Amino acid sequence: MTARQSLSSWKKLTQLAQQKKSQHMNTLFAQDSERFAKFSVELPKMLLDYSKNLIDSETMATLFELAKETHVADWREKMFAGEKINKTENRAVLHTALRGSNEKSLTVDGENVSEHVEAQWQKMEAFVNKVRQGHWLGYSGKRITDIVNIGVGGSNLGPQMVTEALKHYSDNSVNVHYVSNVDGAQIVEILRPLDPEKVLFIVSSKTFTTTETMMNAGTAMKWLTASSFDETAVGKHFVAVTANKENAMNFGIEAKNIFGMWDWVGGRFSLWSAIGLPIALDLGFDQFKALLDGAHEMDEHFVNAPFEQNMPVIMAMLSVWNTTFLGSQSQAILPYDQTLHMLTAYLQQAEMESNGKSVNWHGEAVNYATVPSIWGELGINGQHAFYQYLHQSNNVVPADFIGSVASVTPVKGHHETLMSNFFAQTQALMTGVNEEQVRADLKAKGRTDAYIDMVAPHKVHKGNRPTNTILLKRIDPATLGNLIAMYEHKIFVQGIVLQICSFDQWGVELGKGLAANIQKELASDQISAEHDCSTMSLLNYYQAAK
Ligand code: F6P
Repeated sequence: MTARQSLSSWKKLTQLAQQKKSQHMNTLFAQDSERFAKFSVELPKMLLDYSKNLIDSETMATLFELAKETHVADWREKMFAGEKINKTENRAVLHTALRGSNEKSLTVDGENVSEHVEAQWQKMEAFVNKVRQGHWLGYSGKRITDIVNIGVGGSNLGPQMVTEALKHYSDNSVNVHYVSNVDGAQIVEILRPLDPEKVLFIVSSKTFTTTETMMNAGTAMKWLTASSFDETAVGKHFVAVTANKENAMNFGIEAKNIFGMWDWVGGRFSLWSAIGLPIALDLGFDQFKALLDGAHEMDEHFVNAPFEQNMPVIMAMLSVWNTTFLGSQSQAILPYDQTLHMLTAYLQQAEMESNGKSVNWHGEAVNYATVPSIWGELGINGQHAFYQYLHQSNNVVPADFIGSVASVTPVKGHHETLMSNFFAQTQALMTGVNEEQVRADLKAKGRTDAYIDMVAPHKVHKGNRPTNTILLKRIDPATLGNLIAMYEHKIFVQGIVLQICSFDQWGVELGKGLAANIQKELASDQISAEHDCSTMSLLNYYQAAK
């Protein structure tokens, strides 16, 4: 038994889970007309209704007790103070400092973090204005019209997700494109219509060693110099965002064109840093700052609200409840706002790379479920694809439904239709429909008894499927900042409660190392006999069939 499992709140939750599994939310709602009032939180920009979970007051109180027994508040303080809570990498975790007010000065390893952030904001703002106003010119004297961000994982998903979410706030001063895949099909497709004289590349890589990004950046550089016939053109068309200035300079990017990053910003939490440059270029620096301010607003809520009213804490504890205690293995993210179409992909990295681990802080194996697998799609598309599974499969998939009260792009009737589905689905997933109701309905429609006997079992929906409803006032930079920061803090709390090192990602290294070796073998046509016979045969087949 791990230390967590011997906590009294943990033991009590284990017992509660056994009892609650046999309950139905319909009964809980019938017994308590105050459920919504009890199990919802309203902030200025968003509302969370979590009443459609298999919880009651006792369960929530015990979950908050678990948060207390695991010292979430102390760890939160340590994180915001810049203590090195990323133990396996000996790093502070300070993405919150990137969106702070900078009233409080923070120091890490003798360096004044607040000053670094302030200086970076100034450098970013000057650069963004220069490009957007047409003062940054390409090698032939033309203004920049297109930005191509080259990066992957945290150096891609956050900025691209936000660019998509806020595309209606862009004044189209520049067009922003993203290259993340090393499959040449992507960069070819993106560069094909572009004019090298008017393109600015941002090479985004915290480490500046990521193979895919380096290869794409190299290809982009060749594309540019093939047009300019002059390597000095690189200075006018390439900037980098990285914590590894030396590598960026060795690659050929001029020192003045390098935006820094710091060890205390994790890749998947980095969109608030200069990694967010494409967002700022697209929307203007003021809108980027509004996004940061929105995230800061959530930071303040996270730090100050009591657990019982604290959105990230509640979201984390519900995930712990549904996953670790009730045994759900996956979690769906279902945005009903078209502009949030990349949110699920973004949260896959944020949640799964952070907490998808099986040893605790002390390196001991944990025998409880940690983070569920995160999946999903725009809700409306999902309804016509996989919601069948959500409603009737034997696997219960807790789901976050995310929608907006006001549409940013109103088209008569559309938003009401969209949101009717949004509300209907969480209701249906919770209430379900039993066989008696199915039979009565079919009878009322004049169906024969034989038909009813045949079809009734197939039409039963057991319901009792947990959902969280997150209703945003409208998608705008500040509200999006609220939403993303809420999930970031949820991930942090979940990691603390489950004793998971949320800020490292050792699990990505093994495959990277093997790929590097295989790349050499493919290049030299010397397939090593040390591979297992499956991998070796695949490599030989591939080489022979090329
Ligand atoms: O391989 C995973 C990963 O290290 C992520 O954690 C990170 O966001 C991504 O690769 C990109 O890393 P970098 O910004 O260093 O290129």
